[in-house]
Order: sequence, then C-alpha cells, then structure tokens
Amino acid sequence: MSYPIERPRRLRKSETIRRMARETVLTPADFIMPLFTISGKNKREPVEAMPGVARMSADLIAKEAKNAFAVGVPAIILFGIPDHKDAVGSDSWSENGVVQNAIKAVKDAVPEMCVICDVCMCEYTDHGHCGVIKHGEVDNDATLELLAKQSVSFAKAGADIVAPSDMMDGRISAIRDAMDAEGYLDIAILAYSAKYASGFYGPFREAAGSAPQFGDRRGYQMDPPNVREALREVRLDLEEGADIVMVKPAMAYMDVIRRVAEISDVPVAAYNVSGEYSMVKAAAEKGWIDEKRVALEILTGIKRAGADMILTYWAKEATEWITIR
Ligand code: PBG
Repeated sequence: MSYPIERPRRLRKSETIRRMARETVLTPADFIMPLFTISGKNKREPVEAMPGVARMSADLIAKEAKNAFAVGVPAIILFGIPDHKDAVGSDSWSENGVVQNAIKAVKDAVPEMCVICDVCMCEYTDHGHCGVIKHGEVDNDATLELLAKQSVSFAKAGADIVAPSDMMDGRISAIRDAMDAEGYLDIAILAYSAKYASGFYGPFREAAGSAPQFGDRRGYQMDPPNVREALREVRLDLEEGADIVMVKPAMAYMDVIRRVAEISDVPVAAYNVSGEYSMVKAAAEKGWIDEKRVALEILTGIKRAGADMILTYWAKEATEWITIR
C-alpha cells in the first residue's frame, strides 16, 4: 500500500528543506518606513495609539533615517504635522515647511536614503480634509493646483519620490505636468491609486492630527466593497504617468493587491496602515499573540499577494528580524 501517493509533508520536514521550498521571502528592500515630522529641535512626541512610533523634529528624523538605512531599510515616507494649519494647507508648499526641512536634514545625514513624501492636504488643513473646501465640499480641480505646488516644493527640497494620497481625479497628470515644467523630470510618482475609505486609518489620524472636522472622506476615497473600481483607478494613474501604484490598506485588501499586480506593468506597493499595526501591538501587549511572528506573517502575506514594496511601521524591526536570526 502506497497511499497517499503525494506526500507534501516531505518538503516540510526540516527548517532547511522548508527554506529551500519557500515561495516568498521578505528582504529589507521590500520596506518603506513612514515617519511623522514636526518643527523644532530634539523633539520627540510618542503617538499613544501606535506604540513605538513618534512624531519627531527634523534632526531626530535624520537620525532615525540614518539608523534605518544602516540596518538595510532603503526608503522612508514623510508626513508633516505643521505648527499652524490653515484652510488651504499653506505649510505644505512653504520653503521652510516641516517636510521640506526634514527632507534636507535626511539628505544631509544619509544622501543614499530614498526620500518619499506623502502629498495631501489633510495634515496641513485646519478642517482636516484632503483638499480645498468649496460650498461645503472638497473641490477636485482647485485641489489639483495645490497638490502640484506641494509636489514641486518637495522635489525642490530634495525628495526622490512624491506620493499623492488625496484621491482627487486627475492628480497624477497635474503633478507630472507641474514637476516636468519645473525640470523635475526624474522625480517619480508613487500613486495611492486604490485608497479606500477605511476605519483602519484611526491611529494615523491621531498621529497626524488630521481627523476631518466635519463629514468624512467617503466622497473621495474608495468604497471598500469595490475591486473593479480599483482596477479603473490603477489604469487611470498609469495612463497619467504613475511610476508605482499602491493599494491601501493592505490586510483587508489582499485580493485587490493581487488583481492590481496582475494588470500593472509598474511596481505595486501596499500600505500596511496604522490600524493594522496598532491591532497587533495591542494584542501583543496583552500577551494574546506573538508580535514578531504575526507581523512577519502579515508582511509575508502582503508580499505573497503581489506587493513589491510595503509601507510599514515595522520597517526597521522587520528588517532586524529577518536579517539577524
Ligand atoms: C492622507 C493619508 C492617510 C494615511 C496616509 N496618508 C490618512 C487618511 O487618508 O485619512 C493613513 C496611513 C495609516 O493609517 O497608516 N494623507
């Protein structure tokens, strides 16, 4: 009797064989580390809802970036929290804005680090929406001009990649045109193409102080049940010149990542967002799950789904976990 004929367990017998048969392997180059920057010097404000994450002044951001690059993290994405927010988010395109200062500090400290900047109005506006308000609503076309202005300003400060997360229609071409007109032909665009109106952004909004003061973001961010629409958003962003397309959040949208990976001829990124991180942190603090094991399982799952790059608050720790065994 030789049943069963197939015995898949043979390839699971030892860690050595499992290593040989492994289909998906995380590497440090997969990770992009999000950082929140504020004004001042030597300032560090822990984000309560995101243990291990803090808002930092430019000098400390530069130190953090240097340490991350030293262990193998290739990129950071910067979010700015200005001292003064206003109706149009003017700090976001100011030459001495919080992000502009952080870009310069990072580039001084570690020029090889890839610096990505989130492009959006919500961290800079007093009403917390991702665009300009007209007649009580976020006005698409008026917002495009400001996103373009913001992108050019980040490029001028030294950013390598700009990453629009606002979900206005036509933003990729508006940003591309503006950057090209100013000579920033080599600055890439990472488009948050399929960004859903998600409850998983809760902790981020504490970190960035960007919760909308009225209404919500469902008028511009995508409706969670939709996947065909995600493919449409990706198609449009590719036509408009996106260099990388992104799906966000990641865990509840693995099928979307897979579908996008199947049609995209540019790299696909996925954002392992704040709520996905904080849930694991909270459960681990209670001793209910093993943080390292679960975090690596989540990141591996996101990569297996089709992501080439993963934005994650675990970037530095995960790099240490997978390189120092
Ligand atoms: C908007 C932006 C958000 C996140 C990244 N860019 C918040 C939002 O849309 O409300 C969320 C990231 C996270 O939750 O980790 N600029």
